[in-house]
Amino acid sequence: MQEKIDQLSERRKRILEGGGAKRIAAQHEKGKMTARERIEALLDTGSFTEIDAFVEHRCTDLGMDEVKAPGEGVVTGYGTVGGRLTYVFAQDFTVIGGSLGEAHAKKITKAMDMAIKVGAPCIGINDSGGARIQEGVDALCGYGEIFYRNVAASGVIPQISVIMGPCAGGAVYSPALTDFVFMTEKTANMFITGPQVIKAVTGEDVSAEALGGALVHAGTSGVAHFTYPDEASTIAGIKKLLSFLPQNNVEDPPLAKTQDAPTRRDEDLAKIIPDSSNKPYDVRDVIRRVFDAGDFLEVQPLYAMNIVTCFARLGGRSVGVIANQPKVMAGVLDINASDKASRFIRTCDAFNIPLVTLTDTAGYLPGVGQEHAGVIRHGAKLLYAYSEATVPKLTVILRKAYGGAYIAMCSRHLGADQVFAWPSAEIAVMGPDGAANIIFKKEIDEAADPAAARKDKIAEYKENFANPYKAALRGYVDDVIDPADTRQRLVGALAMLLGKRVQKPVRKHGNFPV
Ligand code: HXC
Repeated sequence: MQEKIDQLSERRKRILEGGGAKRIAAQHEKGKMTARERIEALLDTGSFTEIDAFVEHRCTDLGMDEVKAPGEGVVTGYGTVGGRLTYVFAQDFTVIGGSLGEAHAKKITKAMDMAIKVGAPCIGINDSGGARIQEGVDALCGYGEIFYRNVAASGVIPQISVIMGPCAGGAVYSPALTDFVFMTEKTANMFITGPQVIKAVTGEDVSAEALGGALVHAGTSGVAHFTYPDEASTIAGIKKLLSFLPQNNVEDPPLAKTQDAPTRRDEDLAKIIPDSSNKPYDVRDVIRRVFDAGDFLEVQPLYAMNIVTCFARLGGRSVGVIANQPKVMAGVLDINASDKASRFIRTCDAFNIPLVTLTDTAGYLPGVGQEHAGVIRHGAKLLYAYSEATVPKLTVILRKAYGGAYIAMCSRHLGADQVFAWPSAEIAVMGPDGAANIIFKKEIDEAADPAAARKDKIAEYKENFANPYKAALRGYVDDVIDPADTRQRLVGALAMLLGKRVQKPVRKHGNFPV
C-alpha cells in the first residue's frame, strides 16, 4: 500500500509542477502569477479543494500523443472567500499555453455545473492561447459547452471572469456572458481577431494592448467592469465585489456590520448642489455622504462616465446605486450610459440587490450621431430594466429631471417604491430656457425688449414649474426632503421595503430590447 501512496504523491507532485520551472519563471517574469498562485491568493488560506487534477486529454493528432499536459492546462475546484463557498477555475498558461481542449473544457463545465447545483459564485481566471489547435472541433465543442452553461447560470449564481493574460477569438464570449469582467493592466488582452489578422484583412497596424488591453475595454468598449494595475490588486477587487453579492438568486446579500448610524444627518449635503442649475458637481460627493462610511465600489468607472453605477451599503445592506453624473456632459443620458445602467440594474435585480437612483440629468443627448446609432433602441433598455426590476426601488431627485429622462431615471411611473426630491429638484417637461422660448414665444417676440421679456418668462416658468412641488402635489414624489435627511430617509424606506413581493403573470421571458 505504501508504494501505491508514494506513487500517488509522485503523480500529484508532477501535476502541481504544471508546465515546469522554466515556464513558471517565464510567467513570473511577465508579472503574472501561476494558476495555483492566483487561486491561493483569491481563496481563504487552506480552503482550496482541487477536483479533476488527474484529468488528461485523449488527443493523438499532430504529435499530441507525446504531449503531457499536467492538469490539462486548467486548475479547478472550490474553496471559500470570506468564509463563503466559491467555485473557481484558473487556466494554466504554463501548460500548452492554457489552451482549451475537450478535457480542459470538461473540467471547467464540471465546476460550473457544481456551482449552479449548490448555488455558489463561479470565478473563472482566463490566461490562454484559446482553442487548442491540435484538438480541432473538439476544442470548439468545449467552448460551446462553456457558453451554454454561462447562460444556464446567468441570473442564478454570480459569474465573474478575470482576464490575466491573453483571451482571444471566441474565448472572449464566455467572459462576455458573465456578470463581471476584471482585467489586469498590461498583461491582459481580449479580442475576437488579433493584430496579425487585422493587419492582413484591413491593413490596420495595432498592438495587442492598443487593440484589446485593459484600459481599452474599461474606457472605450465597455467590455471590462473593473481594471487594476496588477494581479494582487485585481484579486483584492474581486473579494470586495463578492462582499456585496449574495451566493445565488434565492439568497439575500450578506448583511455587513457598520458603525455608521442610520440616523446620521449631513448638513453639508445641501452645499454640494451649486446655486446655478447649470453648474456641474461630482455626484460621487453625494454618494460618499449618504451611504455607509462613504464606501462604495464603482462598476465601469471609466465607461460612460456621465452615469455612475456602484455598489454601496445602507445600514449594512447592499444596494446598487445609479446616479447621473453632472460633472460629465451634464449627466446626459446617451447610448453608452443607457447600456451601462441597464446592465447594472438587471444584475442587481437578478441578485436581490435593491436599487437607489440619484437623478440630476439634462435629459437625453441630442445629435444625429446618437439618433443614427440607435439611441431609441438603446435608451429603451433603461426603461425596460427599471420597469422589470422587482427589488426595492428608491429614487432621490437631486436637481434636474426633465422630460423622458425624468421618467427613465426610475420615476414612480416605472415602479419606484419611494421617490424623494430635494428642494432643488426641477421636475418638468423641459428646462426653463427651452420651455419659455416655446410657450411664451409670442409674448417674447412682441415685447418692447425681447431679451428682458425672455429673462422674465424663464424666471416665471422656473418659479412655477421647475420645482418638486407640482410632482409632489400629484403624489409622483412621496416627499420633498431636507438633503441632510437623505441617509435616514433611504435607510428607513429600505427597511420598510424588506418584505416587498411582486407577482407577475407567467411568461417565457420578456423581450429585452438589445
Ligand atoms: C495550442 C498553443 C495555443 C493554441 C499557445 N499555444 N496557443 N497550443 N493551441 N491555441 C502553445 C504554444 O505553442 C507554446 O507551446 C505555448 O503555448 C506558449 O505559447 P507562446 O506562443 O510561446 O507564448 P507567447 O509568446 O506568450 O504568446 C501567447 C499567444 C500566442 C499570444 C497567446 O501563443 C498565440 O498567438 N497563440 C494562438 C492564439 C490563437 O490564435 N488561438 C486560437 C484563437 S481562435 P510551447 O510548447 O512552445 O511552450 C479560438 C476559437 C475559439 O480560440 C472559438 C470558440 C467559439
